[in-house]
Amino acid sequence: MPKRIAVLISGSGSNLQAIIDATQSGRIDGDIVAVISNKAGVFGLERAANADIPSEVLDHKSFESRESFDAAMMELIDGYNADLVVLAGFMRILTPEFVRHYQGRMFNIHPSLLPKYKGLNTHQRALDAGDKEHGCTVHFVTEELDGGPLVVQGRVSINLDDSSDSLQQKVHVVEHQIYPLAVEWFCANRVRWTEDGVIFDDQPAPAEGIQYISE
Ligand code: GAR
Repeated sequence: MPKRIAVLISGSGSNLQAIIDATQSGRIDGDIVAVISNKAGVFGLERAANADIPSEVLDHKSFESRESFDAAMMELIDGYNADLVVLAGFMRILTPEFVRHYQGRMFNIHPSLLPKYKGLNTHQRALDAGDKEHGCTVHFVTEELDGGPLVVQGRVSINLDDSSDSLQQKVHVVEHQIYPLAVEWFCANRVRWTEDGVIFDDQPAPAEGIQYISE
């Protein structure tokens, strides 16, 4: 059975697009059954419409608390019977209840080589630290912000003339490779979460995640 995927966004949705493309090409054995945004008018919603995917806007500002917003989100997502929840630039901190509800079936992508640079401004922080490389990570979501077990990581080198913007662009290219890959693995039952860490092809995955080498 193809897996049912819900994608949560807050913005441009370029990662959403990469996953749409990989479902349409048949590479991912799954269907995006819903795109949910906490902001109206964002470009990701247009991408969903162009691909004939149902979308919903749930504006967090119209809820009294984080708890009530997350409860409404859960109801919405579960109404679509999603097997996998994909956070694709969804810029909200989630409640423990929400995270526990989707334990083992929710991915996030973060623009750094986790565990380095959790939180915001990751590109500038990598530059300021004088790092020689930077990248992005797909991980299972746990209650610790940007802290769940790592699935796959892609690297870019940092050159002397790189700025935060140029690094962001380089990292985006790799994000669009590793996020569809992680979703493909999940949908093919090749990757799964356990209490003891990520299992990939029936073996424990390395703590730093599978290292993706671009072709
Ligand atoms: C991506 O770069 C993603 O790594 C980042 O938001 C961007 C969304 O871009 N996510 C985070 O910073 C989460 N902490 P997109 O809307 O074009 O996919």
